[in-house]
Amino acid sequence: MTTIESQTTSHLLDQHILADFIQHAGEIEHPREMIIDVLRAIQLHHGWVPDDGVELTAAILGLTPVEVEEIATFYDKIFRRPVGRFVIHLCDSVCCWTRGADEIAAHLQKTLNIEFGQTTADGLFTLLPSCCLGCCGIAPAVMIKQQFYGPLTPEKVDELIATLRQEGSA
Ligand code: FES
Repeated sequence: MTTIESQTTSHLLDQHILADFIQHAGEIEHPREMIIDVLRAIQLHHGWVPDDGVELTAAILGLTPVEVEEIATFYDKIFRRPVGRFVIHLCDSVCCWTRGADEIAAHLQKTLNIEFGQTTADGLFTLLPSCCLGCCGIAPAVMIKQQFYGPLTPEKVDELIATLRQEGSA
């Protein structure tokens, strides 16, 4: 058992996945290329990436925590603080903006009673702005858990939030 595996890491990663990452990092020339993969796996398991997740990633890949942190803070889909169960990424790039993203933004903020960057009191929703999600054909759009929704109207937002609330309470 390696030093990393013997540490208490189960709250951050499934131990089989941890072992796979350690093995793979030892087999490739530039383990740095795995930073996002490891951070995303930690986020999937833990919900977000705490400081010890950054330190674990660095230990797996033979990097310094600062090198990992540079990537973690650059990539806006990696969360370095707690978020809601459903993170709503609302696109504010040009196609969505010209097709009513402002109205959707206002409606989401009013419906959820939060501003961008905040999480609802019940811990269900976090609302974040995003640059183009790559699904301009369904503008205005949001991404939630890697799924895209659009073209949105206030009514469709209401339906979506109701569905997610139901899923969240199940
Ligand atoms: S501009 Fe919104 S998805 Fe591309």
